[in-house]
Amino acid sequence: MSGRRIVVVGSLNADLVVRTERFPRPGETLRGQDLAVLPGGKSANQAVAAGRLGGEVVLVGAVGDDEHGRLLRSSAAAAGVDVSHVLVRAGTPTGTAVITVDAAGENTIVVSPGANAALAPADLPAGLLEGAAVLCLCLEVGAEVVLAAARAARAAGALVLTNPSPSGPVPAGLLERTDVLVLNEHEAAQLGGHGVPRSVVTRGARGCVVHEEGAAPVPVPAVPVEAVDTTGCGDAFTGALALRLAAGDPLVEAARRAGAVAALAAARAGAQPSYPSREELEAFTAASG
Ligand code: RIB
Repeated sequence: MSGRRIVVVGSLNADLVVRTERFPRPGETLRGQDLAVLPGGKSANQAVAAGRLGGEVVLVGAVGDDEHGRLLRSSAAAAGVDVSHVLVRAGTPTGTAVITVDAAGENTIVVSPGANAALAPADLPAGLLEGAAVLCLCLEVGAEVVLAAARAARAAGALVLTNPSPSGPVPAGLLERTDVLVLNEHEAAQLGGHGVPRSVVTRGARGCVVHEEGAAPVPVPAVPVEAVDTTGCGDAFTGALALRLAAGDPLVEAARRAGAVAALAAARAGAQPSYPSREELEAFTAASG
């Protein structure tokens, strides 16, 4: 690791969010609250989480030439993220996520990839990873671009942090090029023995468990909060973890700090709108001991 820059390659989605008392059953229609259109997408969320906490972050992705795309670019830019490599593709809609949130703050999400689907290795700028500390990846864009970015990060000596989400097949060769895997319990059960030497399994209100080769697993408790909306909490965790790893924290300490960011995100509505600034995080950490 030669610098502190974080590079995030992946997805941006407009989140179309409706809150309901409970989730509908198949075939059932329920009345919900007013629709909210909020900035989201796993990679954009990770970038915004790290940027709002003061990180130097570059986001690479694609949106359509539409209102959703403008919302996403401006939300990331407002968090201090370099969006000069977020491409605007005419004739393709920005990715969207249809989200329901129930009274307990749990969610269901269906993603329509839009412009994310066409992100390609050729969209990675030359020298993108040179001098970078961490590359963040998820699986909301195509396997080729994810693998190309992982290869470039490895060649440049940057740490590769992979969130294998949404769940599904992991591109062949990705786990071998991953230094730190961040996944939830569901994804961990699906992946089984993944062979990545360092991983963090997030467990919602039960915190996370840090696994490092040759050491006993370390449980890290969550900071207790009243959950309002858990959408994007895992992305807040991942972005904050990337920031702390880029700053040189050991994995357990980085996970402890990232847990506080995820807790704050759970206590507020939306994905990106719920992410704290550095000052908010400091005040929260001081108040929660
Ligand atoms: O992890 C939450 C995110 O998943 C949402 O913001 C949605 O856009 C989907 O990508």
